[in-house]
Amino acid sequence: MIRIALVGTGWQGQGHLNTMQNMKNIQVVGVCDVNEDMLKKASTKFSIQGFTSYVEMLEETKPDGVIICTPPEIREFLVRGAAERGIHCFIEKPPAKDLGMANKVQEILEKTGVLNSVGFMYRYSPAVKFTKKLISDRRITLVRSAMLDGLALRPNWPRWFFDKERSGGPAFDQAIHIFDLSRYLLGEVDQLTGYQDNLVVPKVNDFTVEDSFSLTMRYKNGTLQNHTHTWSYPDVFTQIELISHELHITLDLVKGRVSGKIDDETVCFESNEHSLYHLELEAFANAIVENNPDHIRSTYKDSVNSLAVALKAMEALDPSVKVDI
Ligand SMILES: NC(=O)c1ccc[n+]([C@@H]2O[C@H](COP(=O)([O-])OP(=O)(O)OC[C@H]3O[C@@H](n4cnc5c(N)ncnc54)[C@H](O)[C@@H]3O)[C@@H](O)[C@H]2O)c1
Repeated sequence: MIRIALVGTGWQGQGHLNTMQNMKNIQVVGVCDVNEDMLKKASTKFSIQGFTSYVEMLEETKPDGVIICTPPEIREFLVRGAAERGIHCFIEKPPAKDLGMANKVQEILEKTGVLNSVGFMYRYSPAVKFTKKLISDRRITLVRSAMLDGLALRPNWPRWFFDKERSGGPAFDQAIHIFDLSRYLLGEVDQLTGYQDNLVVPKVNDFTVEDSFSLTMRYKNGTLQNHTHTWSYPDVFTQIELISHELHITLDLVKGRVSGKIDDETVCFESNEHSLYHLELEAFANAIVENNPDHIRSTYKDSVNSLAVALKAMEALDPSVKVDI
């Protein structure tokens, strides 16, 4: 049994607390939030001791690992506080708000040597594992990906997501999942270009993010990808389509399904395992129990490269740089 503490008891923090209720090898020993209402709700709902002071939580509960679920600008002092006490760190995506902070966090993790994992849960999907193996010795020429979600249509969603300065908008906060997974499957991105707009929800007052964008990426190995993304869609849809002269495969990340054709043979894979959050937390717990980082599929060091792509995507989508016809 390992002891886990969690900081940031909002949407994602409560999601992880829910998941950990069903994990036999994890005991959650403390939760922390600066917002007393959020903290009270979580500590009451999950019957866990609550703290408004992070350091007090670490000192009093002496956890083996901490799960960090705060917005991306709040990472460095939380990682430092844990890592310098020898406490292993699971850090939600995005790994940081900018590369300066990410490099400082990486330095702390390297110096202290604690285990670390970033919440890119799609890497734990059995459908992704299947796809990675399927294409391991193939050249992918074209990729079509889409992530369609309805965050901009949800009035109760935490408002900081709609503040471009704080969340970075869909291109930074959410598309980083696609950038990370594409890197995991295809390699490193070389160049990007694209367009963004507010096609459904206009920019007003506290809504300063684009609601949709389209991005074209070129990989170092020559693969070309087009990615379409919106926060103004009435459902949830996330797919990556891999294309070449010998295959056409669709990876559906919502359904956990792979379908299509390879060398004219039909491919069909579906997994019953849909709780990717469970799998990523289980990997973190197993890494701590066995003191073995090999369980972790997304280290902080690697996640910094996905952060770099997300930051470049924001630059490429900057509406002030336009080519008119
Ligand atoms: N992997 C996923 O699928 C996924 C999904 C949603 C959110 N996230 C990520 O999780 C993180 C949190 O997002 P969320 O949706 O839970 O946001 P949220 O606003 O619902 O929750 C964040 C919580 O952090 C608390 N907080 C802020 N500063 C703090 C501090 N210094 N100390 C303690 N608590 C502090 C806030 O009071 C709030 O309760 C973000 O990085 C987000 O991108 C990941």
